[in-house]
Amino acid sequence: MTSTVHWNRGAVELIDQTRLPHHLETLRIETVESMVAAIKRLSVRGAPAIGVAGAFGVVLAMIEADPFTKPEEFDRLLQALRDARPTAVNLAHRVDQVAAVIGGGADAALAEAEAIRADEIRASRAMGDLGADLITELVASPRIRAMTICNTGGLATVERGTALAVIQTLHERGRLELAYPLETRPLLQGARLTTWELQQMEAPFRLVVDSAGPALISRGMVDVVLAGADRIAANGDSANKIGTYSLALASRADEVPFLIVAPESTVDRATVQGSDIEIEMRSEDEVTGFGSTRFAPSGAPALNPAFDVTPASLITAIVTDRRVVHTDRGERPA
Ligand code: MRU
Repeated sequence: MTSTVHWNRGAVELIDQTRLPHHLETLRIETVESMVAAIKRLSVRGAPAIGVAGAFGVVLAMIEADPFTKPEEFDRLLQALRDARPTAVNLAHRVDQVAAVIGGGADAALAEAEAIRADEIRASRAMGDLGADLITELVASPRIRAMTICNTGGLATVERGTALAVIQTLHERGRLELAYPLETRPLLQGARLTTWELQQMEAPFRLVVDSAGPALISRGMVDVVLAGADRIAANGDSANKIGTYSLALASRADEVPFLIVAPESTVDRATVQGSDIEIEMRSEDEVTGFGSTRFAPSGAPALNPAFDVTPASLITAIVTDRRVVHTDRGERPA
C-alpha cells in the first residue's frame, strides 16, 4: 500500500516527498533518529502529516527506550521529535497526545497514533466540503478559479488535504474552472507536489511562479485564494509557507476572498498572536541553489524563513474540519 504515512509491521512507511514527482518511493523508518531526519529534510512534510509521523514516532521511541525503565532516554527521543520542526504545532501536539497514553503500553500508543491518522483523513473530507460550501456562498460565479500556495494535498495530510481538498471537492462538484498552484520557492512544493496531485485528480491547472500570484489576483483572474496553515494563533493570525502573506495583501487590495483551511489540530490556543509563533529558518543552501545545482555565486549569503504570518485582519475566513470562523466578522478561532 502506498500512502503518505502509515504504520506497517513495526515501522513507519512514508512516501519520500523529496523524490517526487519523478520517483514514487517509500521509506521505511525504524528509529526516532531517522524519523527526525526525514521530517527535517521534508521527506514527510505538511503540518498534519508531520503530526501523524510524530505520533507514530512515539511508538518507535517506546520500542527503542522503555519509558518506565529508561525514562530519561525516552524523554530525550520525544523532545527530538517535537523539535524536528518548530512552526507546525501539529507535530508537538500529536507527540504529546500519544505520550499521554503510554501507560497502556505500546499497543495503546499505536492505537492512539492510528486514531490520529484516521482523524486527519476524516478532517480532510470535512474541510473539503465546508470550504467548497463557503466558496459557493462567497463567489457568485458558478465556475471557480482558485489560487493556492505550497502543497496542501494528501501528501501534506494523509488523504485529500486542507486547501487542496477544497479545490478537489470543487472539481468533483464540477465547479472548478482552473487552479493556479504557485511554484513555492525555494523547495518547489507547488511545482513538484501540488501539480502531481492535481494531475492525479485530473483537475485543470496552470502552474505559475510565486511572483505572478499578486499580479494574477490584481488582473481579475482569481476568484478565491486558499492556503493551509502550520499554526493558527488564538486570535486567528496564521503561519503558513513563505509567500502566503503577499497573497493575502493582494487579495485584500483587490477584494478577493482569502481563506485559510486547516484542521482543528493546527489551532494553537496557547499561542496568543502571530508574533508569538516561531518561524523556522532553514539552510541558506536552499536559496542559493537547488539540489546539487548552485545558481548564486559561491559564498553569497542568504536568508531563508520557511514561513510567514498572515494577520487575521487579512483573512476572510478560517475553515477547519468542524467550523467556519468568519474572521472578517470579528470571529476568532479561540
Ligand atoms: O515546509 P512545508 O512543505 O512543510 O510547508 C507546508 C505548508 O506550508 C502547508 O501549507 C501547511 O503545512 C499546511 S498543509 C496541509
